[in-house]
Formats: sequence, C-alpha cells, structure tokens
Amino acid sequence: MQTVTAFPDLRAARAQLLEPVGLVPTMGYLHEGHLSLVRRARTECASVVASIFVNPTQFGPGEDLAAYPRDLPSDQRLLESEGVDLVWTPTPEVMYPEGFQTWVTVEEVTQPLEGARRPGHFRGVTTIVAKLFNGVLPQRAYFGQKDAQQARVIQQMTRDLNFPIQIVVCPIVREADGLAMSSRNTYLDPDERRAATVLHHALTQAQAAFDSGERDANVLRAIVTRIVGEEPLAALQYVSCAHPETLEELETIAGDRALLSMAVYVGKTRKTRLIDNVVLDSDAQGL
Ligand code: PAJ
Repeated sequence: MQTVTAFPDLRAARAQLLEPVGLVPTMGYLHEGHLSLVRRARTECASVVASIFVNPTQFGPGEDLAAYPRDLPSDQRLLESEGVDLVWTPTPEVMYPEGFQTWVTVEEVTQPLEGARRPGHFRGVTTIVAKLFNGVLPQRAYFGQKDAQQARVIQQMTRDLNFPIQIVVCPIVREADGLAMSSRNTYLDPDERRAATVLHHALTQAQAAFDSGERDANVLRAIVTRIVGEEPLAALQYVSCAHPETLEELETIAGDRALLSMAVYVGKTRKTRLIDNVVLDSDAQGL
C-alpha cells in the first residue's frame, strides 16, 4: 500500500492502478462504518483508493475542526489490512493553495436539513469531493447512508457536472446498542454515550409506527420529538420526514419511501452534535 500527499505523486501512483478504480473519501479516524465502504469497494473494484483529509472548508466557525480526532498511523494500518492499494493524504496547502478561488455549489438539495443548520457546509463538501474525484479519477465512489443528505448532494453534483463516476451508497453501520458509528462518538463520556442511544431508539419507534401503517409525517416526527425529549442529556435540533430525493418535508407519506432524519445535541457542558436517519420503505425490513 502506497501513501501519497502531493498531486504529482498522486497522478503517478494513479496511473499504475488497474481499473475500475474505487474511491472511498474520508476524514480519517476510521471505524467500521468507513471500513464497510472500503470492503464494498474491494469487492467491486480492481483497485481501491482511500483519501484522508479533514477538510477545513466544510466546518463552520463555531464547529469542531480543531478538535476533530486524528490518528494517521492507525488509519494506515486499518486500510492496509483491508487491502487498499493507495492512500491519499493531502494537506490543506495541497487542496487550497494560495489564491484558491473556485467553489462547487449544489442548489436545492443543500438548502434544508444539515444545510440549513450548517451554512457553507455543503459548499465545502462538494468542492473537496469534486477535487478528490478530479485527482483520483475513479470509476466508482463510495459514501455512507449515515450522511444521507451528503450522499444525495454528491449524486446531484455528479449528475449535474457529468462526472463519469458511479456513486455507491452503503448502509449505516451501528454499534451493538444501535448507535450509528461516527468519529465524533469519541467526544462522548460514559453517561453521554448511554444517552446517545436515544437517536436510534427514537428512529426505531417511528419505524415501528410506519410499519404498522402510520403515514402521517407529523405523527412520525412527533414520536421522535417525544422520545428524544425524555432523555435529559439530549436536545433535539431537528427532526425531518422528507421526500428521499427532493428532501422536502412531507405532510403524508404518499409514495413508498421517506427519509426520517435528525440531529441531536448530546451532553452536559460540551455538547456533541450527532446525526442519524432511516429510510422508511414500505418494501424493506427496517433499520
Ligand atoms: P467522514 O465523516 O470521515 O465519512 C466518510 C464516509 O464514511 C462518508 O461517506 C460517511 O457517510 C461514511 N460513514 C461514516 N459513518 C458511517 C457509518 N456508521 N456507517 C456507514 N457509513 C459511514 O463524510 C465525510 O467524512 C466528509 O464529508 C467527506 C465526504 C470525506 C468530504 O470531506
């Protein structure tokens, strides 16, 4: 497994790879969620490239850029053991050199949900992912359903800008108690870690109502609001029951599917912001 940082080294290493090439973009501090994307890429592609870059432009002013956990040696060990061919670890200077002034913005689907609460976040995500795509030139790129809106935004960008890349969205990997794996879970102390299970619990209860025939989006949102409200260490930022493609809020679930998603602050003093979601699907098994 080779690790490169600068663009010329990336280009040279990329030229040696067998195709199809699969790209797994990450911000590092890898866990089983990230590794599930790597394994999927490994089964579907002749070569697998993983990128590790904590992208400063997708963090807002008051967010956790400085605190974001990092452990490159451990990440490299994990990627090596998964059979990754090439790791790209650009620096901020490589990605945003002096004089950088070009941005990629996706319009409607970045407006609600995360986009409404994290101004500028998706502009940072789409710009960096476009640069990762242009650097690696993969045939396939792998993203997690954990960040459902991000996956939807990347699909839109890929279509609109004609990147010849297939976007593969992989299921959410969870801890044994249901908490969606996240690098940010390391911020939680033991009490907060226990409280954080409320996200999955709330989604599961709403899913059960949906499975019993509930199609009123207000009722499903209210179930999530009530259950999160019962956890003293949790504060709901938003719950959404939206169309899975347009991400517009629904009154009733008239079609087959809806995206039920949420953001919750967990903690006493230092608050950790966690997100989770489930696709409510008349034909599927659930979480
Ligand atoms: P990061 O948060 O490191 O996540 C990298 C990829 O792993 C994303 O596609 C994310 O959805 C996926 N992922 C994270 N936790 C997961 C879980 N529990 N189950 C399944 N997939 C999971 O998302 C980013 O980085 C960045 O925004 C990035 C796309 C790299 C651009 O900077």
